[in-house]
Amino acid sequence: MVLATVDPAGMVWQRMVLLKDVSPGKGFVFFTNYASDKAAAIEQNPRVSLHFPWNELDRQVIVGGVASKISVAETARYFLSRPRESQIAAWASQQSRPISARAVLEQQLAAMQAKFAQGSVPVPDFWGGYRVVPDRIEFWQGGVNRLHDRFRYTKNQDDQWQIEQLQP
Ligand SMILES: Cc1cc2nc3c(=O)[nH]c(=O)nc-3n(C[C@H](O)[C@H](O)[C@H](O)COP(=O)(O)O)c2cc1C
Repeated sequence: MVLATVDPAGMVWQRMVLLKDVSPGKGFVFFTNYASDKAAAIEQNPRVSLHFPWNELDRQVIVGGVASKISVAETARYFLSRPRESQIAAWASQQSRPISARAVLEQQLAAMQAKFAQGSVPVPDFWGGYRVVPDRIEFWQGGVNRLHDRFRYTKNQDDQWQIEQLQP
């Protein structure tokens, strides 16, 4: 899914992240580096948007909601289920920070491979999940002659979803 954030300067940015969990009534979970640009933006403004493009079906789903960090226990459950190489790679990258050459990244990886040569790889304290709790979801389905179907679900103050059909 595409995750859009707004930083304190009002700059909108978007990037792809993997949806790792979605639970009814809860939200959409992804994992990332808590020191990344997206994390810095979320820290200042937790309102985010998710976009699921589904071109083959002429369909899209757009989510608006609020992101917050999941618990350390929940992050650990997922981290420990990942392949060892992915666990070590999480340690090796200071995501979103500039680097002078690819070789430096490879050195960082080699250093982490050496550091964690034995035993299990601990969960980095700078890495974990976010859950986006939606308060607005739009379902869009392409139709013939541009008569597309759009349904907007908005959470009202009583925590009920209000559904409106929108013009395409
Ligand atoms: C298909 C795809 C899946 C990705 N999944 C993730 C992910 O789950 N977590 C993540 O941190 N970055 C993921 N990335 C990389 C991000 O798009 C992005 O480059 C990175 O998170 C840094 O973003 P930032 O500098 O805006 O924080 C993915 C990229 C692609 C193309």
